[in-house]
Amino acid sequence: MELDRLQAIKKGLLTLHTLELMAITIYRFQITKESCDFNRQLTAAMCNEMTHYQDFQVKLYEYGFRPSVIRLVYWFVGFAFGFTSRLISKKAILKTGIWVETKAVHHYTKLLEIIDWDEETRKTIEKDQADENGHINRWKQLLSSGISR
Ligand SMILES: [Fe+2]
Ligand SMILES: [Fe+2]
Repeated sequence: MELDRLQAIKKGLLTLHTLELMAITIYRFQITKESCDFNRQLTAAMCNEMTHYQDFQVKLYEYGFRPSVIRLVYWFVGFAFGFTSRLISKKAILKTGIWVETKAVHHYTKLLEIIDWDEETRKTIEKDQADENGHINRWKQLLSSGISR
């Protein structure tokens, strides 16, 4: 594989891996100790993000790359979004989820467009992107069903 293509794939994988860590951390800090369906939905989403994180971590190592240390900054960003929205309201949690996931879907679209991925990785990205769309739809549905505090 040419160096340019390889560099682009590396950059793309690092971006995706980092974003998924942020997503996991957002959901993680939105979950409260209360035993309720809302928390179970957030936990399911967190679990789903963990599989995405795994997808990209495995790809990084398969290519002989390593995760970036800078991603830890995004852990803090995720913590800030997650924790702050939890302090405000369930509505804020859902709106944060919709906002962040929409950004992610756009990011995925752009990365799919500009990078010449190998077929397997492309399929993985498309699957994960479809999951993010699923999250958006779930949160929108919950929001319109009138969840407040
Ligand atoms: Fe994800
Ligand atoms: Fe997601």
